[in-house]
Amino acid sequence: MLTTPLCAVLGIEVPIVQGPLGGPWSQLTDLPAAVCEAGGLGTIPTSLRTAGEVRADLAQLRAKTSRPFAVNMTRRPFSEDVFEALLADPPPVFWLSLGDPGELADRVHDGGGVFVQQVETLDQAERAADAGADVIVAQGSEAGGFGGQIGTLVLVPQVVAAVAPIPVVASGGIADGRGLAAVLALGAQGACLGTRFLASAECGVAPEWKDQITTATSEDAVKLAFAEHVFTPPTAGGYMSVPRSLRTGFVDEWNARVAEAAHDSDLLRAQLRMASANGVAHRLVPFAGQCAGLVGEVLSAAEIVRTTVADAERILTSWC
Ligand SMILES: Cc1cc2nc3c(=O)[nH]c(=O)nc-3n(C[C@H](O)[C@H](O)[C@H](O)COP(=O)(O)O)c2cc1C
Repeated sequence: MLTTPLCAVLGIEVPIVQGPLGGPWSQLTDLPAAVCEAGGLGTIPTSLRTAGEVRADLAQLRAKTSRPFAVNMTRRPFSEDVFEALLADPPPVFWLSLGDPGELADRVHDGGGVFVQQVETLDQAERAADAGADVIVAQGSEAGGFGGQIGTLVLVPQVVAAVAPIPVVASGGIADGRGLAAVLALGAQGACLGTRFLASAECGVAPEWKDQITTATSEDAVKLAFAEHVFTPPTAGGYMSVPRSLRTGFVDEWNARVAEAAHDSDLLRAQLRMASANGVAHRLVPFAGQCAGLVGEVLSAAEIVRTTVADAERILTSWC
Protein backbone atom coordinates (compact mmCIF):
# COMPACT_ATOMS: atom_id res chain seq x y z
CA MET A 1 0.00 0.00 0.00
CA LEU A 2 1.31 3.45 -0.99
CA THR A 3 1.90 5.59 2.09
CA THR A 4 3.92 8.72 2.88
CA PRO A 5 4.76 10.45 6.19
CA LEU A 6 1.69 12.66 5.59
CA CYS A 7 -0.50 9.64 6.35
CA ALA A 8 0.75 9.47 9.94
CA VAL A 9 0.22 13.23 10.43
CA LEU A 10 -3.41 13.02 9.26
CA GLY A 11 -4.16 9.51 10.56
CA ILE A 12 -5.04 8.17 7.10
CA GLU A 13 -4.01 5.02 5.19
CA VAL A 14 -3.37 6.40 1.70
CA PRO A 15 -2.19 9.89 0.63
CA ILE A 16 -5.48 11.03 -0.90
CA VAL A 17 -7.28 14.12 0.36
CA GLN A 18 -10.79 15.05 -0.74
CA GLY A 19 -10.94 18.81 -1.37
CA PRO A 20 -13.80 20.63 0.37
CA LEU A 21 -16.71 21.15 -2.04
CA GLY A 22 -18.74 23.99 -0.58
CA GLY A 23 -21.98 25.29 -2.02
CA PRO A 24 -25.71 25.60 -1.57
CA TRP A 25 -26.42 21.87 -1.32
CA SER A 26 -27.61 20.19 1.85
CA GLN A 27 -26.14 16.65 1.77
CA LEU A 28 -22.49 17.14 2.62
CA THR A 29 -21.44 14.06 4.57
CA ASP A 30 -21.84 10.98 2.31
CA LEU A 31 -18.78 11.90 0.24
CA PRO A 32 -16.34 12.61 3.10
CA ALA A 33 -17.57 9.52 4.94
CA ALA A 34 -16.92 7.35 1.86
CA VAL A 35 -13.45 8.86 1.34
CA CYS A 36 -12.54 8.29 5.01
CA GLU A 37 -13.80 4.71 4.88
CA ALA A 38 -11.65 4.16 1.77
CA GLY A 39 -8.56 5.26 3.72
CA GLY A 40 -8.25 8.88 2.54
CA LEU A 41 -9.08 12.16 4.25
CA GLY A 42 -12.69 13.28 3.74
CA THR A 43 -13.50 16.96 4.22
CA ILE A 44 -16.67 18.85 5.14
CA PRO A 45 -16.93 22.40 3.75
CA THR A 46 -18.58 25.13 5.82
CA SER A 47 -19.11 27.90 3.28
CA LEU A 48 -22.71 29.21 3.32
CA ARG A 49 -23.39 27.19 6.54
CA THR A 50 -24.46 28.47 9.95
CA ALA A 51 -22.74 27.29 13.14
CA GLY A 52 -25.79 25.11 13.90
CA GLU A 53 -25.67 23.47 10.46
CA VAL A 54 -21.94 22.80 10.84
CA ARG A 55 -22.53 21.17 14.25
CA ALA A 56 -25.21 18.96 12.65
CA ASP A 57 -22.87 18.06 9.73
CA LEU A 58 -20.16 17.01 12.18
CA ALA A 59 -22.56 14.82 14.14
CA GLN A 60 -23.83 13.25 10.90
CA LEU A 61 -20.31 12.51 9.64
CA ARG A 62 -19.25 11.03 12.99
CA ALA A 63 -22.24 8.70 12.79
CA LYS A 64 -21.03 7.51 9.36
CA THR A 65 -17.31 7.04 10.08
CA SER A 66 -15.03 6.77 13.07
CA ARG A 67 -11.98 7.71 10.99
CA PRO A 68 -10.22 11.11 11.00
CA PHE A 69 -11.71 13.82 8.79
CA ALA A 70 -11.20 17.53 8.08
CA VAL A 71 -13.46 20.55 8.34
CA ASN A 72 -12.69 23.44 6.01
CA MET A 73 -13.22 27.16 6.42
CA THR A 74 -12.27 30.00 4.07
CA ARG A 75 -11.93 33.74 4.45
CA ARG A 76 -14.53 34.32 1.70
CA PRO A 77 -16.00 35.19 4.22
CA PHE A 78 -14.70 33.93 7.60
CA SER A 79 -17.33 33.21 10.27
CA GLU A 80 -16.07 33.52 13.86
CA ASP A 81 -19.32 31.81 14.99
CA VAL A 82 -18.53 28.71 12.94
CA PHE A 83 -14.91 28.70 14.12
CA GLU A 84 -16.02 28.94 17.78
CA ALA A 85 -18.41 26.03 17.21
CA LEU A 86 -15.50 23.98 15.83
CA LEU A 87 -13.27 24.88 18.78
CA ALA A 88 -16.01 23.71 21.15
CA ASP A 89 -16.22 20.31 19.38
CA PRO A 90 -12.91 20.03 17.53
CA PRO A 91 -12.63 17.95 14.36
CA PRO A 92 -9.39 15.93 14.02
CA VAL A 93 -8.21 18.23 11.21
CA PHE A 94 -8.99 21.91 10.60
CA TRP A 95 -8.31 23.30 7.10
CA LEU A 96 -8.17 26.99 6.18
CA SER A 97 -8.21 28.21 2.58
CA LEU A 98 -8.15 31.54 0.75
CA GLY A 99 -6.71 33.64 3.55
CA ASP A 100 -4.04 34.34 6.12
CA PRO A 101 -3.84 31.83 9.00
CA GLY A 102 -3.25 34.57 11.59
CA GLU A 103 -3.69 33.03 15.06
CA LEU A 104 -5.90 30.18 13.86
CA ALA A 105 -3.17 27.51 13.90
CA ASP A 106 -2.41 28.25 17.57
CA ARG A 107 -6.10 28.12 18.48
CA VAL A 108 -6.54 24.79 16.66
CA HIS A 109 -3.39 23.35 18.30
CA ASP A 110 -4.69 24.39 21.74
CA GLY A 111 -7.70 22.13 21.06
CA GLY A 112 -5.45 19.25 19.97
CA GLY A 113 -6.26 19.46 16.24
CA VAL A 114 -4.07 19.29 13.13
CA PHE A 115 -3.93 22.58 11.19
CA VAL A 116 -3.92 22.44 7.38
CA GLN A 117 -3.42 25.60 5.32
CA GLN A 118 -4.12 25.83 1.60
CA VAL A 119 -1.93 28.25 -0.40
CA GLU A 120 -1.69 29.46 -3.96
CA THR A 121 1.66 31.31 -3.88
CA LEU A 122 5.11 30.81 -2.38
CA ASP A 123 4.65 33.83 -0.14
CA GLN A 124 1.39 32.39 1.28
CA ALA A 125 3.20 29.08 1.90
CA GLU A 126 5.99 30.79 3.85
CA ARG A 127 3.39 32.65 5.93
CA ALA A 128 1.55 29.38 6.64
CA ALA A 129 4.80 27.72 7.76
CA ASP A 130 5.59 30.68 10.06
CA ALA A 131 2.07 30.50 11.51
CA GLY A 132 2.59 26.84 12.50
CA ALA A 133 0.73 24.87 9.80
CA ASP A 134 1.13 21.10 10.18
CA VAL A 135 0.32 20.42 6.52
CA ILE A 136 0.31 22.78 3.52
CA VAL A 137 -1.93 22.23 0.49
CA ALA A 138 -0.28 23.86 -2.53
CA GLN A 139 -3.03 24.47 -5.06
CA GLY A 140 -2.31 25.27 -8.69
CA SER A 141 -4.45 27.36 -11.01
CA GLU A 142 -5.89 24.31 -12.81
CA ALA A 143 -8.17 23.81 -9.80
CA GLY A 144 -11.93 24.19 -9.79
CA GLY A 145 -13.50 26.78 -7.50
CA PHE A 146 -11.57 29.78 -6.16
CA GLY A 147 -7.83 29.73 -6.76
CA GLY A 148 -4.64 31.40 -7.90
CA GLN A 149 -2.68 31.90 -11.08
CA ILE A 150 0.37 29.58 -10.82
CA GLY A 151 0.16 26.05 -12.23
CA THR A 152 0.55 22.99 -9.97
CA LEU A 153 3.71 21.72 -11.71
CA VAL A 154 5.48 25.02 -11.01
CA LEU A 155 4.05 25.82 -7.57
CA VAL A 156 4.43 22.49 -5.76
CA PRO A 157 8.24 21.99 -5.93
CA GLN A 158 8.84 25.59 -4.85
CA VAL A 159 6.51 25.21 -1.87
CA VAL A 160 8.02 21.82 -0.94
CA ALA A 161 11.51 23.36 -0.89
CA ALA A 162 10.42 26.45 1.04
CA VAL A 163 8.48 24.78 3.87
CA ALA A 164 10.44 21.53 4.42
CA PRO A 165 9.99 19.44 6.55
CA ILE A 166 6.28 20.38 6.64
CA PRO A 167 4.40 17.87 4.43
CA VAL A 168 2.86 19.34 1.28
CA VAL A 169 -0.28 18.09 -0.46
CA ALA A 170 -0.53 19.02 -4.15
CA SER A 171 -3.89 20.21 -5.46
CA GLY A 172 -5.23 21.33 -8.82
CA GLY A 173 -5.49 19.17 -11.92
CA ILE A 174 -5.11 15.76 -10.23
CA ALA A 175 -7.79 13.25 -11.22
CA ASP A 176 -6.07 9.85 -11.28
CA GLY A 177 -2.99 7.78 -10.47
CA ARG A 178 -0.90 9.53 -13.11
CA GLY A 179 -1.49 12.83 -11.32
CA LEU A 180 -0.71 11.35 -7.90
CA ALA A 181 2.53 9.79 -9.20
CA ALA A 182 3.50 13.11 -10.82
CA VAL A 183 3.04 15.20 -7.68
CA LEU A 184 4.88 12.65 -5.52
CA ALA A 185 7.77 13.08 -7.97
CA LEU A 186 7.55 16.85 -7.32
CA GLY A 187 8.10 16.26 -3.62
CA ALA A 188 4.48 16.39 -2.47
CA GLN A 189 3.39 13.74 0.05
CA GLY A 190 -0.18 13.48 -1.15
CA ALA A 191 -2.78 14.70 -3.61
CA CYS A 192 -5.97 16.68 -3.11
CA LEU A 193 -8.76 15.90 -5.59
CA GLY A 194 -11.77 18.21 -5.96
CA THR A 195 -13.30 17.98 -9.43
CA ARG A 196 -12.79 14.18 -9.55
CA PHE A 197 -14.79 13.76 -6.30
CA LEU A 198 -17.45 16.25 -7.47
CA ALA A 199 -18.30 13.65 -10.13
CA SER A 200 -18.53 10.81 -7.60
CA ALA A 201 -21.63 8.80 -6.75
CA GLU A 202 -21.71 10.07 -3.16
CA CYS A 203 -21.28 13.79 -3.87
CA GLY A 204 -24.46 15.72 -3.01
CA VAL A 205 -24.54 17.96 -6.11
CA ALA A 206 -27.10 17.61 -8.93
CA PRO A 207 -26.56 14.65 -11.32
CA GLU A 208 -26.78 17.19 -14.17
CA TRP A 209 -23.62 18.92 -12.84
CA LYS A 210 -21.79 15.58 -12.72
CA ASP A 211 -22.81 15.03 -16.38
CA GLN A 212 -21.45 18.49 -17.24
CA ILE A 213 -18.09 17.41 -15.79
CA THR A 214 -17.92 13.99 -17.45
CA THR A 215 -18.65 15.50 -20.88
CA ALA A 216 -16.45 18.62 -20.54
CA THR A 217 -13.08 19.24 -22.16
CA SER A 218 -10.29 20.98 -20.26
CA GLU A 219 -10.82 24.08 -22.43
CA ASP A 220 -14.35 24.33 -21.04
CA ALA A 221 -13.00 25.07 -17.53
CA VAL A 222 -12.33 28.81 -17.53
CA LYS A 223 -11.51 31.50 -14.97
CA LEU A 224 -14.40 33.90 -14.25
CA ALA A 225 -13.13 37.40 -15.07
CA PHE A 226 -16.38 38.92 -13.73
CA ALA A 227 -16.28 37.04 -10.40
CA GLU A 228 -15.51 40.05 -8.20
CA HIS A 229 -18.79 41.62 -9.30
CA VAL A 230 -20.98 38.70 -8.22
CA PHE A 231 -19.35 36.72 -5.39
CA THR A 232 -18.92 37.77 -1.74
CA PRO A 233 -15.55 39.53 -1.31
CA PRO A 234 -13.01 38.10 1.16
CA THR A 235 -13.14 39.27 4.77
CA ALA A 236 -10.06 40.53 6.68
CA GLY A 237 -6.97 38.50 5.84
CA GLY A 238 -8.55 37.01 2.71
CA TYR A 239 -6.36 36.39 -0.33
CA MET A 240 -7.26 37.54 -3.85
CA SER A 241 -8.44 34.58 -5.90
CA VAL A 242 -10.44 34.00 -9.05
CA PRO A 243 -12.79 31.02 -9.47
CA ARG A 244 -12.74 28.47 -12.29
CA SER A 245 -15.97 27.04 -13.70
CA LEU A 246 -17.18 25.18 -16.76
CA ARG A 247 -18.45 27.42 -19.54
CA THR A 248 -22.18 28.13 -19.80
CA GLY A 249 -24.14 30.85 -21.64
CA PHE A 250 -23.99 32.92 -18.41
CA VAL A 251 -20.21 32.46 -18.04
CA ASP A 252 -19.48 33.29 -21.69
CA GLU A 253 -21.73 36.35 -21.68
CA TRP A 254 -20.30 37.96 -18.55
CA ASN A 255 -16.68 36.97 -19.23
CA ALA A 256 -17.09 38.95 -22.47
CA ARG A 257 -18.82 41.90 -20.73
CA VAL A 258 -16.87 42.43 -17.49
CA ALA A 259 -17.44 46.20 -17.41
CA GLU A 260 -21.20 45.68 -17.78
CA ALA A 261 -21.08 42.98 -15.06
CA ALA A 262 -19.72 45.64 -12.68
CA HIS A 263 -22.68 47.86 -13.57
CA ASP A 264 -25.27 45.03 -13.41
CA SER A 265 -23.83 43.28 -10.37
CA ASP A 266 -27.09 43.46 -8.37
CA LEU A 267 -28.94 41.78 -11.20
CA LEU A 268 -26.30 39.06 -11.58
CA ARG A 269 -26.25 38.39 -7.83
CA ALA A 270 -30.05 38.10 -7.83
CA GLN A 271 -29.92 35.62 -10.75
CA LEU A 272 -27.35 33.49 -8.92
CA ARG A 273 -29.29 33.66 -5.63
CA MET A 274 -32.47 32.50 -7.36
CA ALA A 275 -30.67 29.70 -9.21
CA SER A 276 -29.10 28.55 -5.90
CA ALA A 277 -32.47 28.60 -4.14
CA ASN A 278 -33.88 26.42 -6.95
CA GLY A 279 -30.92 24.00 -6.80
CA VAL A 280 -29.73 24.90 -10.32
CA ALA A 281 -26.76 27.23 -9.70
CA HIS A 282 -24.72 24.81 -11.86
CA ARG A 283 -26.73 25.91 -14.91
CA LEU A 284 -25.11 29.34 -14.51
CA VAL A 285 -21.75 28.63 -12.82
CA PRO A 286 -20.79 24.93 -12.59
CA PHE A 287 -17.49 25.26 -10.70
CA ALA A 288 -14.97 22.66 -11.89
CA GLY A 289 -11.29 22.44 -12.74
CA GLN A 290 -9.34 21.74 -15.92
CA CYS A 291 -9.06 18.06 -14.98
CA ALA A 292 -12.73 17.72 -15.96
CA GLY A 293 -11.14 16.74 -19.29
CA LEU A 294 -9.72 13.65 -17.51
CA VAL A 295 -13.01 12.66 -15.85
CA GLY A 296 -15.15 10.52 -18.14
CA GLU A 297 -17.55 8.80 -15.74
CA VAL A 298 -19.14 9.08 -12.33
CA LEU A 299 -17.45 6.61 -9.96
CA SER A 300 -17.86 5.75 -6.29
CA ALA A 301 -15.48 7.55 -3.94
CA ALA A 302 -13.97 4.19 -2.92
CA GLU A 303 -13.26 3.35 -6.56
CA ILE A 304 -11.60 6.76 -7.10
CA VAL A 305 -9.36 6.30 -4.05
CA ARG A 306 -8.54 2.67 -4.88
CA THR A 307 -7.68 3.18 -8.57
CA THR A 308 -5.78 6.42 -7.99
CA VAL A 309 -3.52 4.79 -5.40
CA ALA A 310 -3.11 1.49 -7.28
CA ASP A 311 -2.28 3.22 -10.59
CA ALA A 312 0.22 5.60 -8.93
CA GLU A 313 1.88 2.67 -7.20
CA ARG A 314 2.14 0.75 -10.49
CA ILE A 315 3.61 3.80 -12.30
CA LEU A 316 6.14 4.53 -9.56
CA THR A 317 7.33 0.93 -9.25
CA SER A 318 7.57 0.48 -13.03
CA TRP A 319 10.16 3.30 -13.07
CA CYS A 320 12.46 1.56 -10.60
C1 LIG B 1 -17.68 23.11 -6.54
C2 LIG B 1 -16.43 23.37 -5.79
C3 LIG B 1 -16.50 23.87 -4.49
C4 LIG B 1 -15.34 24.11 -3.76
N1 LIG B 1 -15.45 24.59 -2.47
C5 LIG B 1 -14.34 24.81 -1.75
C6 LIG B 1 -14.45 25.26 -0.40
O1 LIG B 1 -15.52 25.46 0.14
N2 LIG B 1 -13.27 25.47 0.29
C7 LIG B 1 -12.05 25.23 -0.29
O2 LIG B 1 -11.04 25.42 0.38
N3 LIG B 1 -11.93 24.78 -1.56
C8 LIG B 1 -13.05 24.57 -2.29
N4 LIG B 1 -12.93 24.08 -3.57
C9 LIG B 1 -11.61 23.65 -4.08
C10 LIG B 1 -11.47 22.12 -3.88
O3 LIG B 1 -11.56 21.79 -2.53
C11 LIG B 1 -10.14 21.57 -4.37
O4 LIG B 1 -9.10 22.17 -3.65
C12 LIG B 1 -9.95 21.79 -5.86
O5 LIG B 1 -11.13 21.42 -6.55
C13 LIG B 1 -8.77 20.94 -6.36
O6 LIG B 1 -8.54 21.11 -7.71
P1 LIG B 1 -9.24 20.18 -8.86
O7 LIG B 1 -10.60 20.78 -9.04
O8 LIG B 1 -8.37 20.39 -10.03
O9 LIG B 1 -9.27 18.79 -8.34
C14 LIG B 1 -14.08 23.87 -4.34
C15 LIG B 1 -14.00 23.36 -5.65
C16 LIG B 1 -15.15 23.12 -6.37
C17 LIG B 1 -15.02 22.56 -7.76
